[in-house]
Amino acid sequence: MSRSLVLALLLAACSAPAPEHQAAHVGAMPARTAEPAAPVEAPPAEAPAAPAANAPYVIDPAAFATLPEGPEGELVRRGHALSMDTHRLLPDEVGNGLNCTNCHLKAGTTPKAAPWVGVTDRYPRYRARSGKVDDLPDRINGCMERSMNGTALAKDSEPMQAFVAYMTWLSKDVPDGKNVADVGMPKIEPPHEPDRENGKALFETKCAACHGVDGKGVFAPDDATMFPPLIGERSYNIGAGMARLNTATAFVKHNMPLNQGGTLTDQEAHDIAAWFIFQDRPDLAKKDGDWPKGDKPSDARY
Ligand code: HEC
Ligand code: HEC
Repeated sequence: MSRSLVLALLLAACSAPAPEHQAAHVGAMPARTAEPAAPVEAPPAEAPAAPAANAPYVIDPAAFATLPEGPEGELVRRGHALSMDTHRLLPDEVGNGLNCTNCHLKAGTTPKAAPWVGVTDRYPRYRARSGKVDDLPDRINGCMERSMNGTALAKDSEPMQAFVAYMTWLSKDVPDGKNVADVGMPKIEPPHEPDRENGKALFETKCAACHGVDGKGVFAPDDATMFPPLIGERSYNIGAGMARLNTATAFVKHNMPLNQGGTLTDQEAHDIAAWFIFQDRPDLAKKDGDWPKGDKPSDARY
């Protein structure tokens, strides 16, 4: 039933007597306008508003442009700084040349780049890879050990508390229990199997100018990451989410080339990801403990 027809039916039913022109409007269904039962068949008046009430919270990156000031904002600001300059601020714990923000773009405020907005509500949760319920510090340590090729932070350590404080601040305006739109790296379904040779060629034309012809990234003289490594000893290890084909494909499709997310076709993103994820990168010694219950995803590396 068309929306205007429903409206006309409701109007006709609610306003007595219905003006002549409205009656004419619903002329296509004369029997209904004549019956008092008609409004019962029509959707209730609040029905169109219902999807909006359940609609997920939409991230507005601009809302996080100004970090909280003063002593009470100190830990939040520290968490933000750690996210932006991770390997230089945590040299003992991070084993590669990456920063959290290289993947969690704009320090976890970018939709479709695994944003941290609302993440305090998404944990604790069961995760198949660990085979147990992980809390937020466990999840952060997952990225420390894999994406950062480093070591776990003690849960009561200052950096861990700073990360959690920052993520809590990012999540403060998400109503309790409400889903957030575009979290994670939403999966795409490329039409066919990846073609790595095509991926290599595409990498050279679309990615190498920033990430380097060898894909090993570009670092400033003070070792700040200018363009993060996709490949090699200073990149993430084989146990990282980004080493999985579906995740890397989705990240590249939505976010790369930088500031031109969505410009590659699904298949191009798939081809490029299938090329770079299988190049040299660090191993993960404890990988044998992953998916202890056997429910391994199809794109797992081991
Ligand atoms: C090489 C890329 C990469 C880097 C670097 C990285 N992560 Fe992640 N992170 C991921 C991926 C991929 C996921 C899973 C996204 C998904 O759910 O699809 C993830 C998920 C997370 C989540 C859970 C998000 C959610 O909504 O469930 C948290 C929290 C997190 N990372 C924290 C960090 C922190 C803190 C750092 C820096 C110490 C970091 N990550 C560095 C790739 C990365
Ligand atoms: C204009 C420069 C530029 C181009 C072109 C570009 N990237 Fe990036 N890429 C970046 C920057 C900068 C980051 C880190 C973003 C940040 O820290 O804010 C990044 C992050 C990434 C990451 C996550 C971090 C990591 O090291 O794994 C991947 C994966 C990635 N790019 C893949 C690609 C692919 C594939 C292409 C080609 C389709 C591409 N990029 C093209 C600049 C670029």
